[in-house]
Amino acid sequence: MKLIDITKENYVQVAMLTTNEDMKPTVLERYVTSNAFSMAQSKYSDKWITKAVEQDGSIIGFAMYGPTDLNGETVFQLCRFMIDIRSQGKGYGKEALKLILDEMKQLDGCNAVYLSIEPENERARHIYEQAGFVCLDMEICGELLFKLAF
Ligand SMILES: CC(C)(COP(=O)(O)OP(=O)(O)OC[C@H]1O[C@@H](n2cnc3c(N)ncnc32)[C@H](O)[C@@H]1OP(=O)(O)O)[C@@H](O)C(=O)NCCC(=O)NCCS
Repeated sequence: MKLIDITKENYVQVAMLTTNEDMKPTVLERYVTSNAFSMAQSKYSDKWITKAVEQDGSIIGFAMYGPTDLNGETVFQLCRFMIDIRSQGKGYGKEALKLILDEMKQLDGCNAVYLSIEPENERARHIYEQAGFVCLDMEICGELLFKLAF
């Protein structure tokens, strides 16, 4: 598995990934905003870094991360993360998360990663806690805030 840049050759494949059971991407999916929206967002703000997850030559996932403001402080956030519905439950999410965190560690000044999850998203919570994230006593827009310090 590796993280690869999103290019004019592969962005359509990334946009067609989905977490929807019917395998049709929608702008707002159950636990994540669509990759097409995230890629557009990253074009209108130079702070977000987008990456595709490649496994055995196929693109199976997506991540977007970068600096953001948290109560007046700049912190690093894993803002979007998904594995396509057809590839979920095979250990790829856990493996991709490790690669993403390794990349984020290399960012200048990044000594912690923040992310937020919907309280019912037990699967995401499980892999984040397994990677060492701890739940902070703080909610953002109804989502639970988690932090991993390096
Ligand atoms: C969350 C997500 C990235 C995980 O990727 P994945 O490839 O499905 O995950 P993996 O197969 O690597 O690991 C899943 C783990 O969750 C566990 N799990 C599965 N369902 C679970 C549940 N309902 N509650 C708790 N744990 C659960 C599995 O047992 C496995 O853990 P284990 O290896 O310790 O047994 C993926 O499911 C996804 O894209 N979900 C929709 C979008 C999303 O929620 N993104 C995160 C937003 S914060």
